[in-house]
Amino acid sequence: MSPVKASYPSNIALIKYWGKHGNQLPCNPSLSLTLSQARTEVTLYCEAKKQEGIALDYLFEGAPKPAFRDRIVDYISRQNEFADLLRNYELRIESSNTFPHSAGIASSASAFAAIAAALLKAAQPHLDETEFLRSASRLARLGSGSACRSFYGPYAQWGASALPHSSDDYAVPVTEIHENFRDMRDAILIVEDAPKKVSSSVGHGLMKGHPFANARFEQARHHCDQMREVLRNGDFDSFIAITEREALTLHALMMSSGDYYMLMKPGTVQIIDQVFAFRQDTGTPVCFTLDAGPNIHLLYPAHTENQVKDFIATLGGGMKSVIYDAAGTGGTVF
Ligand code: DP6
Repeated sequence: MSPVKASYPSNIALIKYWGKHGNQLPCNPSLSLTLSQARTEVTLYCEAKKQEGIALDYLFEGAPKPAFRDRIVDYISRQNEFADLLRNYELRIESSNTFPHSAGIASSASAFAAIAAALLKAAQPHLDETEFLRSASRLARLGSGSACRSFYGPYAQWGASALPHSSDDYAVPVTEIHENFRDMRDAILIVEDAPKKVSSSVGHGLMKGHPFANARFEQARHHCDQMREVLRNGDFDSFIAITEREALTLHALMMSSGDYYMLMKPGTVQIIDQVFAFRQDTGTPVCFTLDAGPNIHLLYPAHTENQVKDFIATLGGGMKSVIYDAAGTGGTVF
């Protein structure tokens, strides 16, 4: 079989997925902006098998990564769609990221989007585009929840809600987008580039029995509905308010878990203060969001790029580097 090549982007959640149940099902719907530059590129080689047993090599940027390889073997073994591939072929997955490791970009999102897409293309090469995207999104979700949203852009929702066809199983595109939100940029301000201290899975687990869990899931459902309306009507003030409330809520949930922890750093808080001041002083429609880490994603429309870059240049010692990204439309596989 000729090699399959997949290239899929990461995404940044505006409405956060935080808390899961059952087989990687979300406790609330989430909604994200798909990125374009920050991608995982995967080549999947399938050679006819010479002997019994599971044969899978995984190379990340040219080097074996045994822990992630084991996670992929476990993942592939659990999906019926991939049973024949695993039974009949020796598989080799070569993966690389277009962004620096541990840059605060959700690498499991782009990685599982690319891996699921490549495997599905090899297993079922004749699906039409709609079927392919839906199945690949569902399969990516089973590897890492947020990965299912990387198949559509610039905006995707994962989780059942009033949005037609939305589901807890896979993501769907959010298609009614006002021109104000069609060309968004994301400047990722790296405050700390060390690997994550607490894995997302552990974090999701802490929502079980969290004293604010039910109120949070209800809030996220409401925010998701509101955000779709905002994306439709172009209201930037509401976009900013909901996005920043979501980011701070995510971190407030971590800080108020049974096993509480804090991922924001002094540099994170300092920059957030500067974003508030910059917006107040200049009226520039820029806002921040955070992943489960200390780094800041600054979101702004393309036409404000020069002002925002000037602002970023004034940020002091709290910031180590910047990665400029922009809204994208999803990935490719062939
Ligand atoms: C804070 O998708 O990394 O980025 O399903 O356990 O792999 P797993 O978790 P993951 O969680 C992402 C959490 C988040 C919010 C979000 O992307 O919605």
